Amino acid sequence: MGLFTKDIKSLDDLFVHTLQDVYYAENQIAKALPKMIEKATAAELRQGFETHLRETEGQIERLERVFAMHGHKPKAVDCPAIDGIVREADDTAGEIADREVMDAALLAAAQAVEHYEIARYGTLVAWAKRLGRDDCAAVLQQSLDEEKATDRKLTALAESKVNQKAA
Ligand SMILES: [Fe+2]
Ligand SMILES: [Fe+2]
Repeated sequence: MGLFTKDIKSLDDLFVHTLQDVYYAENQIAKALPKMIEKATAAELRQGFETHLRETEGQIERLERVFAMHGHKPKAVDCPAIDGIVREADDTAGEIADREVMDAALLAAAQAVEHYEIARYGTLVAWAKRLGRDDCAAVLQQSLDEEKATDRKLTALAESKVNQKAA
């Protein structure tokens, strides 16, 4: 993607570009989650991150499937948005000594990631349908549903336990 060349000429190009963006993001998340598991104290939070790490690996495979279905090789393009969310989470974690406050911070960072992913997958599903690729939309919808379920589980865990312990 050049600075002075306009390589995205159609909604189809934009769809592929956004697939590449999410492919990068999911791979960064797969790298960040093991570090979050290490830092987390509450058993449910660690378990939740472990489950989502496995789901993330499946989501990466799903994206590879969608690339293939749409006639493209899997490719990642830098996603400064996810880099920023991960960097901010690292910076905040570096400032926290208390383990229970750390759990609240990790959980909040994970929810920021989920909301980013929900936004991206929601857009990809809508564009896939508009492009007549209901087959791609169905695969992407599975990941969207997983991200939403993860977000709901994190909210429940925050409200039932983690925030209380941190307070
Ligand atoms: Fe994901
Ligand atoms: Fe996620």
